[in-house]
Amino acid sequence: MMESVLTSEYRRLSRDPATQQPLAYLRLRQAIRNVIDQRGIEPGQALPSERDLSQALGLSRVTVRKAIGGLVEEGLLTQRHGAGTFVAERIVKPMSRLTSFTEDLRARGLNPRSEFFERGIGEVTPEEAMAMNLSPGAPVVRLHRVRYAGDEPLAIERSVVPASALPDPALVHDSLYEALEQRGCRPRRALQRLRAVLLTAQHARLLHVAVGSAGLAIERRSFLDDGRIVEFTSSWYRGDIYDFVAELQTD
Ligand code: GLP
Repeated sequence: MMESVLTSEYRRLSRDPATQQPLAYLRLRQAIRNVIDQRGIEPGQALPSERDLSQALGLSRVTVRKAIGGLVEEGLLTQRHGAGTFVAERIVKPMSRLTSFTEDLRARGLNPRSEFFERGIGEVTPEEAMAMNLSPGAPVVRLHRVRYAGDEPLAIERSVVPASALPDPALVHDSLYEALEQRGCRPRRALQRLRAVLLTAQHARLLHVAVGSAGLAIERRSFLDDGRIVEFTSSWYRGDIYDFVAELQTD
């Protein structure tokens, strides 16, 4: 049944001139992605075996393996030795722990990566100065990046960090928190605001989703032990992949 959902989506993409994807493994990859998006296969469920898929689709095992391999790398599928290939559960992020993007993804066996649009130093703007308790003209490091799991974009983040905590933007490779930790400036506490948004055309393009898709806008202000603000970050997460989970207790 699941196999037939995949087969018909693959055939549909092969017929659809708008797909414009001559390579069979990329078409199959897209078909699997679509079926998962439309919940044709639920998180935690197994995919048909490589052999069954290659027979049903008339594709070589190598092609099927290549299609699946890319999705495993992106974190959309997971493989358990001897048991097969499964649709990954959504990325669940506990809300009460002050962790970094890199740590959250590594904890799930995924491969976090950043693409930088900006990694520079400049003067604080009046808005930033108010938000971060900084004096006018104070130097700040600015990062603007798309955060990925493998090839899959998950979030866009804009961070501002006082140069007193991070004097050189080049110190940030993949993880901002790692760079801050090395300087003894890892945040100890944070205030975070989270709201639902519809992703704008620009954000949707960077996150490889349709314009107007659901997203989560998150603002985080993090503090050092002495109360100084060490980051002010605005993020836009894809709503279809991230789950934020909070633990609630009575007093
Ligand atoms: C999350 C938070 C950001 C924080 C980032 C640090 O994504 N929303 O506020 O700056 O983690 O992650 P990393 O250390 O991987 O750069």
